[in-house]
Amino acid sequence: MPVVEREKTHDDELDVLNHLLSKREKLQNNPELILKEIDDYNSKTGKLITIGPGKGKFLKREIKSLKPTNVFEFGTYIGYSSILIAIELVKLDNSQIEDFKIYTFEFDPIFYNISSKIVKLAGLEHIIELNYGKVSNIIEGVVDNNKISQIDFLFVDHWKYHYLPDLRIVESLGLISQNSVIFADNILRPGVPDYLEYIRQSPEWKQKHNLSVPNENSERLIGRYGLIYETTIEKAANNKGDIDGVAITKCIDNLN
Ligand SMILES: C[S@@+](CC[C@H](N)C(=O)[O-])C[C@H]1O[C@@H](n2cnc3c(N)ncnc32)[C@H](O)[C@@H]1O
Repeated sequence: MPVVEREKTHDDELDVLNHLLSKREKLQNNPELILKEIDDYNSKTGKLITIGPGKGKFLKREIKSLKPTNVFEFGTYIGYSSILIAIELVKLDNSQIEDFKIYTFEFDPIFYNISSKIVKLAGLEHIIELNYGKVSNIIEGVVDNNKISQIDFLFVDHWKYHYLPDLRIVESLGLISQNSVIFADNILRPGVPDYLEYIRQSPEWKQKHNLSVPNENSERLIGRYGLIYETTIEKAANNKGDIDGVAITKCIDNLN
């Protein structure tokens, strides 16, 4: 049974957008300050479902050490983590790399709109490409349009019952290869047991699984059993102060 996410309204996110726009002069082209404003706002309400500073520090650390050319993000929401990743990418000496980019995906029209405005306020539209639609419906188009053959860093942070189906899609599209890193949020709260089991299992188990369990998000793209992963879990507080975990998974071999 898929985990059912709570029905989300947009009141808090519209509120935070208005709050940021009311400080437009101070915040324009200042992504660090925008994240701080969002964190401060959230420390009062605890209502926003951004990755937040606690778990965000692992995201920063991984970007710093991997130095990815491209980053894919499933679940833009209000653009908080896209901005956090973009700040780290800009800090890297990527001057020799012409177009490092974050391709982020959001299927909720209001969140898509809010994130577009916040990314624009941050002055990061040239680095963050916002894609509107359900990951499984639009990813092939995004990959083709941008001539992408491999994902360097994938941040999985959309609804939890899409984690495994969409991982199977990117595997089948040949986008995960040796040294790709997949960073998944909310591993303990609410938890994503099917995803965790999959990334930890043997090629034999995955082959059987992929042939016998249909992919809910694609009839055709069922996953690749020969990708070998190594995963570490890091724990930190979420925005409510509860301990959650992120799974950092490196593809260490490709037997396909
Ligand atoms: C937890 S929030 C993302 C938080 C964001 N990464 C951050 O840390 O600031 C999850 C978002 O994923 C979006 N979403 C869920 N399933 C999706 C899907 N299949 N395709 C695109 N967006 C999706 C939701 O609308 C929501 O805005």
